[in-house]
Amino acid sequence: MNASSSSSSPPQTQTQTAWTYTTQGLPRQILSINHNYPVPPPPSGTDLFIRVTHISLNPGCYITLEAIPTWVRRLVSGGKTEYVPEGEFSGIVVSVGSDVGDNSSSSSSTPSPSSDSNADPKFTSFQQFKPGTRVFGCLPVPSLLGGSGTLAQFISVPSTQVCVVPSKNMTMAEAAGLSGAGLTAWAMLNEVPGYGVSEIEREGSKPRVFINGGSGGVGTMLIQLAKAQGAYVVATCSERSRELVKSLGTDEVIDYRANSPLPEYLSRHYSSASTRFTHILDTIGSQSLFESCASYLESTGVYINVGNFEGIFKTVFRAFWNEWAEVRARWGMGFIGGVPRTYKMISTTPNGAKAAILAKMVEEGKLRVVVDEVVGFHAQESDGDGKGRGVLDAYDRMLARNVMGKIVVKVQNP
Ligand SMILES: NC(=O)c1ccc[n+]([C@@H]2O[C@H](COP(=O)([O-])OP(=O)(O)OC[C@H]3O[C@@H](n4cnc5c(N)ncnc54)[C@H](OP(=O)(O)O)[C@@H]3O)[C@@H](O)[C@H]2O)c1
Repeated sequence: MNASSSSSSPPQTQTQTAWTYTTQGLPRQILSINHNYPVPPPPSGTDLFIRVTHISLNPGCYITLEAIPTWVRRLVSGGKTEYVPEGEFSGIVVSVGSDVGDNSSSSSSTPSPSSDSNADPKFTSFQQFKPGTRVFGCLPVPSLLGGSGTLAQFISVPSTQVCVVPSKNMTMAEAAGLSGAGLTAWAMLNEVPGYGVSEIEREGSKPRVFINGGSGGVGTMLIQLAKAQGAYVVATCSERSRELVKSLGTDEVIDYRANSPLPEYLSRHYSSASTRFTHILDTIGSQSLFESCASYLESTGVYINVGNFEGIFKTVFRAFWNEWAEVRARWGMGFIGGVPRTYKMISTTPNGAKAAILAKMVEEGKLRVVVDEVVGFHAQESDGDGKGRGVLDAYDRMLARNVMGKIVVKVQNP
């Protein structure tokens, strides 16, 4: 008998429905629905027990499903043999651990944003978490690697990973897509020391930001956050995404398919002193774009990459190689791949305190999560006419890399 509950009432049974896997591979090969997956134990310490309403899919998840051997997962998870994918969620607090405390002195649903991009994690303690609170967030990295994911009806999460859903301008489906992509974009714009977009503005000139891949989860966030921070934004996408990318505030949209190869196009149109970029923010991970960037990226600019669409192992190797490209170029070793520009590969560790910065922006109408499609939790196959699409169809779309913004799974009604 599997768990059922409404609103914030605790589950009536010890089992629940979850998508699980026991081996390494692509989602359609390894995922199946399990109606008897154990419900997490009651929350202890600072944990929250959450009834999940929505989750959003993240490319990092299907990449690691395929890349991480099962023995590694078993090791990280302390011996588990069945795993749940995904890390982002929105849902409703069912119960709280004994150390979550009563923060009822707070009057706001979300705390004020901090101008410090590394906002103090204690910030979260100003948020009220109690049964019935609508929340969103992202699991900590060890849970992701250990396969204690969110594609399930109930989860237990440290409260430091969680943020209250803004009181206006945001649905639960949108909330599920805010943390991962939003905080990655935030980090690209604000957390590389010496290269923050607002630092450039303070020096008197407007930052000129080029976004490679403006229509995906990270790209749609980057455009809005860069515009909110005063940048001039040029972004790529395919023709079908042009209207969306424009509507988010992009100043110039480039169709990367019609203008291929992109590095040559940029060299032709963006190499003058007034058109060169201060930041190239790559959500795709295009090696050729970096190798040619000296002609369209200012010498004091930065190339920041989070993408791995050319392959995860290649990307990891290149990250190391590219970080030294500037040194090679300056020591006269350009012939072995030197590029006289600064390259940074970054990742982010989402937490509730930082998510509160984005939640506040949403509440104020300055940021929105673009949701491409909301699919069902139970449907396993498309019925062929676009209705009844489920989890596996959603993964197929992710793998085909044709999602605009975020793709969300509705697990149960809020
Ligand atoms: N989402 C996160 O939380 C997160 C966090 C950290 C790192 N990352 C990494 O960042 C990368 C991007 O993630 P994401 O969530 O933004 O991916 P995504 O949403 O799956 O990106 C899909 C989009 O990529 C566009 N695209 C595909 N090839 C392109 C190309 N050559 N040039 C420009 N656009 C292209 C497609 O746009 P068109 O249809 O317009 O072509 C599609 O809309 C991934 O490698 C991911 O692992 C993501």
